[in-house]
Amino acid sequence: MQKNIESKAHFDEHPLSWTFHRNTCRWAHNAQESSGSDDVPEPGAEYPDLPYTPLPEPQAIKEKFDDLINRRCSCRDFSDAPISQDAIATILHYGYGILGTDHWGTAEFLERPVPSGGGMYPLELYLLTRRVTNLEDGIYHYAPLSHGLEQVRAVTLPDPLIRYLFMGQYPVLTAAAIVIISAAPGRSMKKYGDRGYRYMLFEAGHIAQNMNLAACALGLETLNLGGFFDDEINRLCGAKRDEQLPLYAVAIGRGVSNSKHRLRFSE
Ligand SMILES: Cc1cc2nc3c(=O)[nH]c(=O)nc-3n(C[C@H](O)[C@H](O)[C@H](O)COP(=O)(O)O)c2cc1C
Repeated sequence: MQKNIESKAHFDEHPLSWTFHRNTCRWAHNAQESSGSDDVPEPGAEYPDLPYTPLPEPQAIKEKFDDLINRRCSCRDFSDAPISQDAIATILHYGYGILGTDHWGTAEFLERPVPSGGGMYPLELYLLTRRVTNLEDGIYHYAPLSHGLEQVRAVTLPDPLIRYLFMGQYPVLTAAAIVIISAAPGRSMKKYGDRGYRYMLFEAGHIAQNMNLAACALGLETLNLGGFFDDEINRLCGAKRDEQLPLYAVAIGRGVSNSKHRLRFSE
């Protein structure tokens, strides 16, 4: 009983969350089936006019699952050592790449490393690079179909800008690269309406965890980031506000130590 009172008070303080939650709950009266055309996934974003870098084949991951789960932690002490293009290729592939194809009737279905509500795959990955060997510093869009990077901008983002974008979070400064997980909301919402927003967030979490574990298997560290200035990050990625929305970010780099405690608390 006490618990209910507490959670009611919590929502009184944050009425927007309650409004969103209740308005995206399914009830018998709003559980209508979507029309067939709403079920057809749209293709992902492609920028064929941008300079293109094909990525190397992803590496096979042979680590034991429980070792990876036990080793994963949030790294707040990256060394400023560079990471390889191979590592980036592997992490992006296991995050949101294409594993293969399957067929259902006449439709071709792309197999990907994360589940996706209705198979709509509403997310796009962007990459901010500062220390990746053989890759010009800049901002890239990951093209999963061809497994390559489309260069949105060639720029070395200066420390004060990185620090500003991530709201003063200094650990990000020494990360080698940062993946931005952005949503193209129309892809989920045309099928699920406002509830589709929930599904995009779930899917972003699946991707982040896959990337966390893939990085771990390569001896790298990650820090998942919810704290950043959305509009500024979006502009850097070259996306128009409302067409794509950055939801989550994952900084990647080499840790200064093997101690989880040292990495987590940078002490
Ligand atoms: C949605 C989400 C957002 C997060 N945002 C940040 C962040 O902006 N900065 C940060 O240092 N850690 C962030 N974290 C990491 C958490 O602080 C961390 O996962 C938690 O303290 C547990 O520690 P562990 O990951 O080392 O097990 C975030 C984690 C999640 C799941």
